[in-house]
Amino acid sequence: MQRIAVLTSGGDSPGMNACIRAVVRKAIYHGMEVIGINRGFNGFIEADMAPMNLGSVADIIHRGGTILRTARSEQFLTPEGRARAYENVKRFGLQGLVVIGGDGSFRGAHQFNLEYNLPVVGVPGTIDNDIPGTDQTIGFDTAVNTVVEAINKIRDTATSHERTFIVEVMGRKHGFIALAAGLAGGAESILIPERPFDFDDICERLMRGYRRGKLHSIIVVAEGAANALEIGQRIKERTGFDTKVTILGHLQRGGSPTATDRIMASRLGARAVELLMAGEKRKMVGIKAGQLVALDIEEALTQTRTIDLDMYNLAGVLSI
Ligand code: F6P
Repeated sequence: MQRIAVLTSGGDSPGMNACIRAVVRKAIYHGMEVIGINRGFNGFIEADMAPMNLGSVADIIHRGGTILRTARSEQFLTPEGRARAYENVKRFGLQGLVVIGGDGSFRGAHQFNLEYNLPVVGVPGTIDNDIPGTDQTIGFDTAVNTVVEAINKIRDTATSHERTFIVEVMGRKHGFIALAAGLAGGAESILIPERPFDFDDICERLMRGYRRGKLHSIIVVAEGAANALEIGQRIKERTGFDTKVTILGHLQRGGSPTATDRIMASRLGARAVELLMAGEKRKMVGIKAGQLVALDIEEALTQTRTIDLDMYNLAGVLSI
């Protein structure tokens, strides 16, 4: 294998740059050339790509976002879009592709491999942590720490004003961020899309806290679990507490990656290159119990990542 390409796709996540760096440097270490594709699959289709060297990835390990930029490509969902991308595979002499992104990106890469036989390796990069086949995705740890830091700050003002805060975090289909940050942030209640919530229980917990003399309360809501503004309004009406809503939004996607994310991104990126060198056709890499693993993308895509119910229940017990 002489020349591979790398792209980032879908929502950016902190640590993607560390992963790009690992892919580029590992491939160069083994004597290969690396083409960096800009703007995800859109750049693949539009030939927005250029060779990368050791210097292209200097000074990026600590930076959030992705130097290759990213997109959610509508065009790549069409056979015409993928046919145009294949023209660029031939034009640039690409023999393998590393795709850093979420499950939608993996689906695109998988489909492209089936149609055009270009070996692909997917590296899980999303703050959502919702990819099966790996215990953790690149960016999740940083995002959770960002949310916890925000909760700490909100707690200061919540205590001062004796308020209840609803903090909305990202996660349309899954509550991994909400659960981890809610547990780490000591939230009274955590609302996630995977579990129905009991509004009476939420209010009861608030009232119990109030009776114990608690000066503030934090409720973490995943964006896909409920409308945070509505929840805030209903709580206000039911309990009479001064209730405020903070929607953290895209700030959860930015920032310098944690050491955990940088290390994981470096290991996963390097392993992706090794898999291409070993002749693998369509794999994803992941981390299970601290060990690097590789599985067929297809297999990963048929599974669903489930929430840790013990952890969810524990959060409920500890915030009684
Ligand atoms: O997939 C990552 C993610 O940040 C989700 O948590 C969120 O729901 C979505 O992307 C937001 O997407 P966009 O940046 O396109 O609004």
